[in-house]
Amino acid sequence: MKAAIMGFGTVGSGVYEVLDRNRETVRKKAGEPIEIKYILNRRDLPGSPVEDLVVHEIGTILEDPETGLVVETMGGTSPAYEYVKCCLQAGKHVVTSNKNLVAAHGTELLAIAREKRVSFLFEASVGGGIPIIRTINESLAGDVVEEISGILNGTTNYILTKMYEEGWGFDEALKMAQELGYAERNPEADIEGYDTCRKIAILTAAASGQEVDYEQIPTEGITKLTDVDFSYAARLGASIKLFGTSICRNGRYYLEVAPVFINARNPLYSVSGVFNGILLNSNMLGESMYYGSGAGKLPTASAVVGDMIAAVQLKDRPAALGWTGQRLEVLPVRQLPW
Ligand code: HSE
Repeated sequence: MKAAIMGFGTVGSGVYEVLDRNRETVRKKAGEPIEIKYILNRRDLPGSPVEDLVVHEIGTILEDPETGLVVETMGGTSPAYEYVKCCLQAGKHVVTSNKNLVAAHGTELLAIAREKRVSFLFEASVGGGIPIIRTINESLAGDVVEEISGILNGTTNYILTKMYEEGWGFDEALKMAQELGYAERNPEADIEGYDTCRKIAILTAAASGQEVDYEQIPTEGITKLTDVDFSYAARLGASIKLFGTSICRNGRYYLEVAPVFINARNPLYSVSGVFNGILLNSNMLGESMYYGSGAGKLPTASAVVGDMIAAVQLKDRPAALGWTGQRLEVLPVRQLPW
């Protein structure tokens, strides 16, 4: 399979590295080699081993019938949305790590993929390298997922851990998260909770089979936390985590993003640093928990490459698992009938 990568930043270059380092494993699992033919990037990459693969026009990829699989790691919604849409319409499988794209346009892109009989996969859009979307869509397909509590943003969890456990200042911790490649280009998306909001919307859409308008989810980040909150947490023996919460009761969905105190009895208590943790409660399995690196180059690229292999394996039976256009009514958690 010949493939293209659109966007060669932290995640895009990680995808190339994973395919290169795990070449033999990828070939065996996919049943054929996956070869990167093009890298769509704004800048040339002189002196890099991928220098000759760089193209600047999406048309080069769209017009090449040999390129059947496209990876989108550009981030943002434009031009990622337009490019992904064109690729699906041209009959190419698409894999993306872009939660902004999936949260805003997932319904439409899934519908196009189904119509064109190609795969549209986005495991890396939530939880970095943690297998969670496929878990909800496939492994737990026979369960009703009634609760999702997630530490879904590596940057804020890293900041909270450093501040609370090691006494770092907020700015210092954020700067380090940026240097480590965890933070968004505009870190406001991390610290104000918008990134977590999109991710809990995607998980809820996968669990419910319905479209979720992330703009309706009450969202608060970590910027309003003060020393008083941290000293209360210490007195209570609790930790402070930014949670995305989604609860289904009697068929109605209650969602929010907010910092919460959790005590040591909560399985997410010890999820620290850049790690993400997702606790599900589904009606047949009961509680299950998923844990791993929620951001960063190779963990995120691992999930992208897993989807690329799935797209190749499924090429005659493509997968656009997810939700339909039926809109879910989002209720705030504070209205939950306890
Ligand atoms: N900025 C995001 C985070 C990257 O920190 O979790 C992964 O989506």
